[in-house]
Amino acid sequence: MNSEPHYLNAGLKFSNSELPAGKIIWRSPSNIALVKYWGKKPVQIPQNPSISFTLSKSYSETEVTYSPSVSGKLELEFYFDGQRNPQFEEKTVKFFESLSGIFPFVNQLKFVIRSRNTFPHSAGIASSASGMSVLTMVLCDMERQFFGTLQKEEAFRRKASYVARLGSGSACRSVYGGVVIWGETDGVPGTSDNYGFPVNEDIHEIFADYQDTILLVDAGEKKVSSRVGHGLMNSNPFAPGRFNQARTNLADLLPALRTGDTETFIRITESEALTLHAMMMTSQPYFLLMKPNTLQIIERIFAFRKKTGLPVSLTLDAGPNVHLLYPKAIKAGVKRFIDNDLLPFLSPKEYIDDEVGKGPEKIL
Ligand code: PMV
Repeated sequence: MNSEPHYLNAGLKFSNSELPAGKIIWRSPSNIALVKYWGKKPVQIPQNPSISFTLSKSYSETEVTYSPSVSGKLELEFYFDGQRNPQFEEKTVKFFESLSGIFPFVNQLKFVIRSRNTFPHSAGIASSASGMSVLTMVLCDMERQFFGTLQKEEAFRRKASYVARLGSGSACRSVYGGVVIWGETDGVPGTSDNYGFPVNEDIHEIFADYQDTILLVDAGEKKVSSRVGHGLMNSNPFAPGRFNQARTNLADLLPALRTGDTETFIRITESEALTLHAMMMTSQPYFLLMKPNTLQIIERIFAFRKKTGLPVSLTLDAGPNVHLLYPKAIKAGVKRFIDNDLLPFLSPKEYIDDEVGKGPEKIL
């Protein structure tokens, strides 16, 4: 059921005498999907529910300075890593303009946005998830400060998640820490196609601090955007089967997350990763985001698991980098495996040691 949108509010506007100036800073993390969202309906409604781990160290930190707009309409400058970035600026202007019914006050202000990521952007590490969710945390924070709404944390997060979804679907999951479902899911009341829904209460402790070491095979910008990839699912002959498979996978993964069943976790999450890329290869036009070293690493992970019996597994985002997932208790052994066997395939010879995190954080 997609009752769109229920956040239009013409009252969220300043009178001309009370236009504010100030600064807000938030951090918001990326997330890694275990059951993938790939394919959507207008407007940013997923074709199937997805579930993810919110990360901890891979985040965007964004400082937003606001002041009265001189032109009387939205003004916005976007700096990324200290440099003005026309590409991000255009994207953010479009996003803010699209939100003028939800946050009418954006049209009265000038925004100077300074953002940085702790990880390479556009390399399939869901930088849009952290980048879009951090902006919506700031906008909801402004609404809360200036209009006295969204006082309850639940209402605040829900609106942030709803709005983040409009910027980038997966971003709606980054608004919450831990394990988050986006999309109506049988047997999980509260889930919605409109926003993320955290399901941490009944998750087994082994997954509460699960590790995600992101192996950077290629930190360059990917050639096909997620937007184009989602669009190609509309004509992919395997799409209906894929959407059903994702529903079944989520239904099977949830009990495994509750009981700490790493075997089922591995079977489902690895199949999800490979299916995501199979969908890319079976789209028209077809495309490939894995690199030769992605496969080298995958084969070594399979071999290491077979040899040691340790519950290490992999997942992939829409890019060539490999996310290595494992329980914290075996971190030292996995580090030795990475340093000895996987490092030669990484470029730069780098990995990001991340883990399940708590979600966005207000800095100022
Ligand atoms: O949120 P988008 O439009 O960048 O799409 C994200 C798609 C995947 O990262 C591949 C899967 C997912 O569920 O996050």
